Amino acid sequence: MTDGRVILAQHIASQDDAHRPYGGVVPEIAARAHVERLTPLIAATLADAGLTLADMDAIAATAGPGLIGGVMVGLVSAKALAMASDKPLIAINHLEGHALSPRLADATLAFPYLLLLASGGHCQLLRVDGVGRYRRLATTIDDALGEAFDKTAKILGLGYPGGPAVERLAATGDPKAVKLPRPLLGSPEPHFSFAGLKSAVLRAKQAGAHADADIAAAFQQAAVDCVLDRTARGIAAAHGPDQPPITALVVAGGVAANRAIRAALESLAAAHGLRFVAPPLALCTDNAAMIAWAGLEHLALGGREAVADGLDAVARPRWPLDPEAEPARGAGVKA
Ligand SMILES: Nc1ncnc2c1ncn2[C@@H]1O[C@H](COP(=O)(O)OP(=O)(O)OP(=O)(O)O)[C@@H](O)[C@H]1O
Ligand SMILES: [Mg+2]
Repeated sequence: MTDGRVILAQHIASQDDAHRPYGGVVPEIAARAHVERLTPLIAATLADAGLTLADMDAIAATAGPGLIGGVMVGLVSAKALAMASDKPLIAINHLEGHALSPRLADATLAFPYLLLLASGGHCQLLRVDGVGRYRRLATTIDDALGEAFDKTAKILGLGYPGGPAVERLAATGDPKAVKLPRPLLGSPEPHFSFAGLKSAVLRAKQAGAHADADIAAAFQQAAVDCVLDRTARGIAAAHGPDQPPITALVVAGGVAANRAIRAALESLAAAHGLRFVAPPLALCTDNAAMIAWAGLEHLALGGREAVADGLDAVARPRWPLDPEAEPARGAGVKA
């Protein structure tokens, strides 16, 4: 990392093994795992960094959005640590962690930029004008892209989490061997839709006439085509007469780990004269370093006063980055 942006220690307690038998995240298991593993995880991370709580400037923790059990355990633990050590608590929106993580990796990335946030629960295009200044230009009207990868993996019997497995299998298949739809391709607004693609994957599998690798490759190609088309619309929508032009296309969230999607977005950015920035793979999927970094960005803006009410923060299952955003037309639950 450059510019003094150093990750001193980072530990991730993955719960994938506990959820794998069920093919997806089980909320009750997730909450219990947080209770059991968080305290030793914090102790190990501090020990690894050779620091104590007294050395901290502040404590940042996710306050939402997400499965409420885990969020509550994390936030309450952070509040306890903040009170015991008399440090400010900074309550961070998980999505803001993803949105700012590219700046942790690349100190030269300046605002404003266009962010594609593609994860297990979200698929959005956001214009990022500064810390805390996010305008949502597009969202999915049904499934998130990571969810579509996970469902495809389940249909093909690849296990959980599905994204990396689908990517591996897709590399050995022929994307032209199976015809799959590209939902919303060419529609004027830059919104996303993946439910129809997922159903088409299921039908292709049930037809029994295709190799799994070909289905995976065709699915990934359809996903790439949709992401490219929608993001190109997003680039157009991000430019307005009274706003400073965006200088970069940035991708974050777990799906940003997908090499085919990264490569396609890199070419798209180049074609529009934009820089392309993506966090290193380890910072793409959920991690605590991005939450710490978002906390530092807030701290740098306003110092301790700006975050002094952190102890009053509540855990929020839903917490849009852009509260002003209208629900997407035709959207189901994931506005
Ligand atoms: N190589 C890959 N290709 C495609 N998708 C991937 C890849 N690696 C991870 N993913 C997907 O990324 C998602 C996990 O990302 P992340 O941890 O950011 O999401 P989440 O925390 O589940 O959701 P959210 O951040 O919206 O709450 C999963 O859906 C996973 O399948
Ligand atoms: Mg996430």
